[in-house]
Amino acid sequence: MDPFVPNLLAGKTAFIAGGTSGINLGIAKRMAGLGAKVAVAGRNPEKAAAAAAEIGGPDVAIGLSCDVRVYASVEEALQIAVDAFGKLDIVISGAAGNFVAPALGMSANGFRTVVDIDLNGTFNVFRACYAHLNLPGASLIAISAGQAVNATMFQAHVCAAKAGINHLCRVLAMEWGPTGVRVNAISPGPIEDTEGMARLAPTPEARVAIETRIPLRRYGTKEEIGDAAVFLSSDAARYITGAVLTVDGGSELGDSRLGASLGVS
Ligand code: HXC
Ligand code: NAP
Repeated sequence: MDPFVPNLLAGKTAFIAGGTSGINLGIAKRMAGLGAKVAVAGRNPEKAAAAAAEIGGPDVAIGLSCDVRVYASVEEALQIAVDAFGKLDIVISGAAGNFVAPALGMSANGFRTVVDIDLNGTFNVFRACYAHLNLPGASLIAISAGQAVNATMFQAHVCAAKAGINHLCRVLAMEWGPTGVRVNAISPGPIEDTEGMARLAPTPEARVAIETRIPLRRYGTKEEIGDAAVFLSSDAARYITGAVLTVDGGSELGDSRLGASLGVS
């Protein structure tokens, strides 16, 4: 059974940066399924158009081309979204880049590129959307990751960027709370059928190695992250701001094989 009442988000408008594939597209579909109008944005215009069609077509969703590293490009996409659907109630900053490389195998430009997409992109999206928010009551959500708190080898760029995102959200929550804007982050664990996990765990063996360490013993789904985003954007979360909601089956707690290795079950 659906944990949310039908049309929970009817009358709401969402802008989802990076919403043209993967987890963020999952969030867009979940929100549209509950009645929201959604604008999804990514660099590739064909991918954005296909995502909008998959979500439900022009009455429900539009696909926009933008590069979150370029402030003017974000402003332009936001304006189109607002012209189409009206002021924004929900803004998700989920655009990200990742590749696996040791720090010594990463050029300064490689490091900068990921920080620019993830962290600077989140500042750009949140800073630029403020003028278009329905106040009070708007919900801003950044998509973070466990790398924000767990030092992870070959992920220097992502660790730095996502840690910055968590802290940026806390500052914005303080600055914008008085006008009724809530700013939170979601930290997903490993999620099924995503580009992120295709890059981080490209073989079945790598996947099994990760799954056996997770307390809940499985990857999560896009729908599960969508549900967390719906919750944070709903009235049920009206007193929650500056939080990082970890939705990871317990991954961040550490390696949970210890019990088995001690023969304790
Ligand atoms: C070392 C690399 C590299 C690699 C790229 N670079 N791939 N360095 N190892 N495998 C370097 C390039 O050589 C270049 O540096 C610099 O990075 C920029 O590369 P470009 O290809 O010019 O950048 P761009 O076209 O902007 O593409 C950005 C990208 C790309 C991040 C490199 O992979 C991308 O577009 N990714 C978007 C999709 C994605 O990554 N999704 C996964 C998100 S998942 P030089 O010095 O040569 O110029 C995620 C997971 C989090 O974030 C946690 C999961 C648990
Ligand atoms: P994905 O499918 O590659 O999604 C990335 C999205 O961002 C795409 O829509 C992409 O579209 C867009 N994008 C990339 N660079 C952009 C830029 N410069 N400007 C605008 N849009 C840009 O990845 P995913 O695995 O679902 O990850 C989605 C989010 O979840 C990311 O924030 C990631 O860090 C986080 N996360 C993922 C996992 C996981 O298990 N996958 C775990 C923890 C956290 P274009 O390529 O067309 O631009």
